[in-house]
Amino acid sequence: MKILFVSLGCDKNLVDSEVMLGLLRDRHHVITNDEAEAEVIVVNTCSFIHDAREESIQTILEMAELKKSGQCRLLIVTGCLAEKYKDEILEELPEVDAVVGTTAYDRICDVIDRSLEGERVQSFESIDRLPLVNTRRVLTTGGYSSYLKIGEGCDKHCTYCIIPKLRGNYRSVPLENVLKDARQLAESGVTEINIVAQETTTWGKDIYGEKRLPMLLKELCKVEGIRWIRLLYCYPEEITDELIQVIKEEPKICHYLDMPIQHSSDAILKRMGRRTSRQELEDIIGKLRREIPDIALRTTLITGFPGETEEDHENLKSFVETMGFDRLGVFTYSPEEGTPAERMPDQVPEEVKEERRDELMLLQQQISAEKTEQMVGKNLDVLVEGRIPEEGIYVGRTYRDAPEVDGYIFINAEEEIISGDFVTVKVTGADEYDLTGDVIYEFTE
Ligand code: F3S
Repeated sequence: MKILFVSLGCDKNLVDSEVMLGLLRDRHHVITNDEAEAEVIVVNTCSFIHDAREESIQTILEMAELKKSGQCRLLIVTGCLAEKYKDEILEELPEVDAVVGTTAYDRICDVIDRSLEGERVQSFESIDRLPLVNTRRVLTTGGYSSYLKIGEGCDKHCTYCIIPKLRGNYRSVPLENVLKDARQLAESGVTEINIVAQETTTWGKDIYGEKRLPMLLKELCKVEGIRWIRLLYCYPEEITDELIQVIKEEPKICHYLDMPIQHSSDAILKRMGRRTSRQELEDIIGKLRREIPDIALRTTLITGFPGETEEDHENLKSFVETMGFDRLGVFTYSPEEGTPAERMPDQVPEEVKEERRDELMLLQQQISAEKTEQMVGKNLDVLVEGRIPEEGIYVGRTYRDAPEVDGYIFINAEEEIISGDFVTVKVTGADEYDLTGDVIYEFTE
């Protein structure tokens, strides 16, 4: 069958999509981007916040229209929206032929077979199942950078978050499976792996009875061909001295840490069900900066959580100002059905949430400009991702830039560079988020 695959949502969901694509390829289905020729359409959905849900529903509706007009015989909905709203989807969208839950995506080929025979399939498993699949993922992120998922689900139960309901409690992907995935990625030319999970820092606790991320990282560093290992989704209270030491000592691990903290006011952190205080956050950030002076820190924040006062917001502004994050994402609070925060009193009006978000983003713009300015004159290794032909320049990322969410460096080069190459670049200019520079020599290894 010719299959059109649409992946929505986060990088964890993207890994699930890539696994499904691998399984479909193994069964000799053909993956197509051409809507007109698709015989099966799979939409892997997100249901994290209201906007993501809207996007998922919109996409399903568009694909349902396509099904009426084109070659398409089956429309299959997988992922987080399917997990939460399977009955509603089947009831309200007669064009949908099958729904597949977040822990049953490895059944995709079987679902297609059964649907083709006329069954309206609902494929769901226990929310705490961990599919371990023996396939080579089909990479959708270019040939040289990929996400590596080391865990599924989350035990933290922050009061605003729906993820444990959609993805279950935390399960670590066993060491041998993580390493196999990493080796396969390296064999297919990947040089940068970005480690993801709902949270990466408690990896191993369910298997070994204690956190073992440092050990996993050391093993991943041994995988030949991998040049950069980048850690995303770290929880501040789980960042141990041992972890800091490994980041410091292992040359393959980028001096970069993504550590979502959401807020700094103790009152709001408590209502959010977070386990750290402002003081503890300041302590861990201080330690990271002392131990690894060139570390780039990324965090995400939420404005307008229920009960957030002007004073709490001022607290957050002063925190952003004093901590000087290298990268920052700010989101407005979105009340999610079935979470404790949805039922909390003192919900904040939408316009106030947005004003506070904009204020923080503006503040961060100045901080980011200062940070990028400090890079001018430095020599940095850059992973080249492409060329802008009209301008005759190349685009890449430094260790300070995670794919999709951070900045870029625009590079002048005398000789041709292939996407995926590493080059060393002298930084010659900066704006708020991006850098410019000249290649000073080709990296040889
Ligand atoms: Fe969305 Fe599910 Fe990811 S809700 S953000 S696709 S874990």
